[in-house]
Amino acid sequence: MKATHLACKGCGATYPLEALFACDRCFGPLEVGWDESEPVARDRIAAGPQTLWRFADFLPVAPPDRGLPVGCSPLIRADRLAAELGLDCELYVKTETSNPTHSFKDRVVAVAAAKAVELGYGALACASTGNLAGATAAAGAALGLPAYIFVPADLEREKIIAAAAYGATVFAVDGSYDDVNRLCSELAYDRPWAFVNVNMRAYYAEGSKTIALETAEQLGWRAPDRVVAPIASGSLYTKILQGFEQGRAAGLIEPGPAPVMHGSQGEGCAPVAAAFAAGDDAVVPVRPTGIAKSLAIGNPADGVYALGVARRTGGSIEPASDAEIVEGMQLLARTTGIFTETAGGVTTAVLRKLAERGEIEAGETVVVYITGDGLKTVEAVAPAVETIAIPADADAVDAALAEPIAT
Ligand SMILES: Cc1ncc(COP(=O)(O)O)c(C=O)c1O
Ligand SMILES: [Zn+2]
Repeated sequence: MKATHLACKGCGATYPLEALFACDRCFGPLEVGWDESEPVARDRIAAGPQTLWRFADFLPVAPPDRGLPVGCSPLIRADRLAAELGLDCELYVKTETSNPTHSFKDRVVAVAAAKAVELGYGALACASTGNLAGATAAAGAALGLPAYIFVPADLEREKIIAAAAYGATVFAVDGSYDDVNRLCSELAYDRPWAFVNVNMRAYYAEGSKTIALETAEQLGWRAPDRVVAPIASGSLYTKILQGFEQGRAAGLIEPGPAPVMHGSQGEGCAPVAAAFAAGDDAVVPVRPTGIAKSLAIGNPADGVYALGVARRTGGSIEPASDAEIVEGMQLLARTTGIFTETAGGVTTAVLRKLAERGEIEAGETVVVYITGDGLKTVEAVAPAVETIAIPADADAVDAALAEPIAT
């Protein structure tokens, strides 16, 4: 495995491995091109660090000598969740809450920040729907680089405050994520900042492959039969498939069919799910609403590629309503002990729909990606949970327990 160039996903034009964010010819998105001819030995991965840099052979930048310990998140068997959904399969949740800023975004930032340092940048920046803000701010703090963070002003407080606590300069922009993204594209032209998901986007995206490679290693170098993952821009979802495919090309993962890829979006911002349902090849931008704010990208950069992944693997891209998302968060928490943010509520809700439709066959290995932590979106679930107010008195405990439980 060797990163050789940047390639335009639209017209195929190639460019050197520099900080570029769009094709000069057609303005299409760029991605890293790979020479996949060299196999990678399993021993080499096993001897690597307990971070995503154990998969350095699949990353477009050498492992840095500084930075936060990102990756190697747990893959947890979820038998009680499977039983509750009537599933007779091997069900796992890959739980990204163990990363330094509690979401999978630490992976993409680790790779983009390493590349930014290699290219000589003196500052990090990002346009964020929430989790990227904290991940970029923390990486800047760990590397001693200033970080400029741009978020829509209506994000969850927890996400904005955490980013600021790392010492980053946080701009709460009056507008949607898509407005923030436009602003950052303009700023990236003439500021000497490495915008992790704008001019560093091709490198950033590669970080998401490590979530798939790790999953395969944890399954004993097998790919799952089926995957459920969230979609905002569509980058994570498409890169999960590429991670499994490159693991196979490198001889690490046993040969077999590609995993059936299910994507999930909040109903308040489901442009890719809508295009999938309509059988369209184009994604029509929407104005986001709803509680799944971390997935609220109305004009997703990789939406059309996500459609291709779903269709090519026999998967689907499906929406979950706000009520279903909250139910999903509670279902996961109650059956696995993992409290996820709204994005994980979306994937859990879509898992439930697949189970109810009977799409998941007995004996399959299924992995659900839980990409962020519930403590960042407590307000979403607050109206659905109850606590009991009592005086510090044992009789009051008994009296409360004797009352019928409200359902
Ligand atoms: C928790 C969480 N999950 C999933 C995603 C989806 O990421 P992508 O833009 O790669 O589709 C995001 C994006 O912000 C996120 O914050
Ligand atoms: Zn092009």
